[in-house]
Amino acid sequence: MNFNFDQIIDRKGSSCIKYDGMGKFLGADDALPMWVADMDFLTPKYITDAIIKRAEHGVFGYPMREESYFTSLIGWLMRRHQWEVMRDWLTFCPGVVPAVNLSVLAFTKPGDKIIAQPPVYFPFFAAVTDHKRELVYNQLIMKNGRLCMDFENLEKLAKEGAKMLILSNPHNPGGSVWAREELMQMAEICLKHNVLIISDEIHCDLIYKPFKHIPVASLSQEISLQTITTVAPSKTFNLSGLSTSSVIIENDSLRRKFNATLDHLHIGGGNLFGNIASEEAYLHGDTYVDELMAYLMLNIETLEEYVATNLPKIKVIRPESTFLVWLDCREMGLNDNDLNDFFLLKAKVGLNPGIMFGPGGDGFMRMNIGCPKATLLQGLGQIKEAFDGK
Ligand SMILES: Cc1ncc(COP(=O)(O)O)c(C=O)c1O
Repeated sequence: MNFNFDQIIDRKGSSCIKYDGMGKFLGADDALPMWVADMDFLTPKYITDAIIKRAEHGVFGYPMREESYFTSLIGWLMRRHQWEVMRDWLTFCPGVVPAVNLSVLAFTKPGDKIIAQPPVYFPFFAAVTDHKRELVYNQLIMKNGRLCMDFENLEKLAKEGAKMLILSNPHNPGGSVWAREELMQMAEICLKHNVLIISDEIHCDLIYKPFKHIPVASLSQEISLQTITTVAPSKTFNLSGLSTSSVIIENDSLRRKFNATLDHLHIGGGNLFGNIASEEAYLHGDTYVDELMAYLMLNIETLEEYVATNLPKIKVIRPESTFLVWLDCREMGLNDNDLNDFFLLKAKVGLNPGIMFGPGGDGFMRMNIGCPKATLLQGLGQIKEAFDGK
């Protein structure tokens, strides 16, 4: 192992939402933070070194992305996902959620129907409703402990005139890695009814064996021409604070529209350190990701074993990807307020209430296991004590 994921880093007082914003955002600041989607691990040293080196220059004027920024991404997508993208297709956005919002603004009109597939990453909802578009749900279905797409309902919504589908690929929460056949079926419906696909692939590097991430746009050229893809090094390398993502759009006219909206908002320059970190991550990050995934899988096994032995009213939905675990707590028989209070106030563990993720989230909680094993065991111990009434 080159990286020490067991190292406990004190993040309190580092102006991070996960630790310092818990009181403000979750309502209790004395809980163990296992919520917001960043990890408690150090980013690889070569990234930090590159940031420090640039910081030592001491002048922080407007940045630009060098060609090497783009070639590092092209190389990464080819090596990690066998997806060949052309330099011309690449553009930028200061974050994936901004890219989703920008796509809504650029490609739809107020009143247009846009599909989200709950339970899903909740900022997708506001990206639709904040811009006065109509949010329509294609609720996922839990089949044999896995969240799956409802193709029949998707086709119905597409037929009824939906203009856009916002996809989490792979899926947050629940961790489903959409299989080629599933994505194909989804994309065919979208092509047939002219629904633009926004594929948020921010979690695409965090895939457990034997699953394989399939970029939607890699399915066929026809599909690629109707897809906007966003990727970022932020989840993979713990760089969310650097507000940097890349957007991949093969279709010239869609890309021009996206870039025009980006320019109108004057946010295309991005973050100097984010640009540098992204390039370093995509150039050198393979070993880090491989070791990270092995460590996270051990955490999942620890979680499953602990829950099966000690917390029989909770079921772990085994993720196929990412460090966010969907816990089925329905057998606890609590309403969503009481469920949240149980974890936050009684167990003093800060999780994301499932209800935040929309329909299908009630009775669930989302746990972030992107932390040292000792932290995970501490959280689980506190939950057991709360069950035992201590
Ligand atoms: C599916 C998904 N998309 C986007 C984001 C956030 O992206 P960004 O911080 O680049 O806006 C997250 C963070 O949890 C996420 O889970």
